[in-house]
Amino acid sequence: MNILDIQKMKAEGTKLTMVTCYDYSFARIIAQTGIDIVLVGDSVAMVVHGHPTTLHATTEMMSLHTAAVARGVPNKFLITDLPFPKHRQGIPEAMSCVDALMKAGAQAVKIEGCEGHEDVVRHIVGSGIPVMGHLGLLPQSVNRLGGYRVQGRDNKSHERLLDQALSLEAAGCFSVVLECVPATIAGEITKRLRIPTIGIGAGPQVDGQVLVLHDLLGMTMDLQPRFVRRFLNGADRIAEALNTFHDEVKRGMFPAEKESYE
Ligand code: KIV
Repeated sequence: MNILDIQKMKAEGTKLTMVTCYDYSFARIIAQTGIDIVLVGDSVAMVVHGHPTTLHATTEMMSLHTAAVARGVPNKFLITDLPFPKHRQGIPEAMSCVDALMKAGAQAVKIEGCEGHEDVVRHIVGSGIPVMGHLGLLPQSVNRLGGYRVQGRDNKSHERLLDQALSLEAAGCFSVVLECVPATIAGEITKRLRIPTIGIGAGPQVDGQVLVLHDLLGMTMDLQPRFVRRFLNGADRIAEALNTFHDEVKRGMFPAEKESYE
């Protein structure tokens, strides 16, 4: 899978699938599936490190997780989030972060937002590195947005979203994530763009879907947004296995003879 395949899938009307991944063991499982794209999201700061927002992700954190995932999914297209505020610190800062992420194994980077850093996006693309855009709900701007809420609901913000998507396409992005955007607006943006849109909480009229791996697997204990579907009750299944181990040790049933050496 590469950016040409991704663009071809839009042209053919084949839906794209993307999931986040943060470590080697999950990466090896994903490598055996049909999933098209793997994203080392800055959500790693929240999901794995327990921070309250993605603003805690750093270049070092993203590079370490990218390297672990890259070792597990050599067969997938691997994208890593540029952590805040690298793309807002100008081209040299952004490029030094991109350099670290590419050396760790990323094949492309994802950058949140648009206005004020189109030149950075253009420069990264011009340097030969594919960039995925990210519009709508921008978790790195959660403090300015006043929380995690649906974006683009009124006419003005709807038009702004469309303009931003067209600017990112013009700046050379190969694809754009639309997060928490009304389905009809996401559909309209998808029709207007030549590059594929990948939605999360953006309804079905987009070119592909992305979910955070731990949400999809039901491993997140917090209240989930309405757009998350749990395809497994992971937390319950894992807790059950741990309790079974605990009980069997207490009852002297583990380890058995076949699990012991002579
Ligand atoms: O960091 C992340 O997990 C993301 C996805 C929500 C698209 O950016």
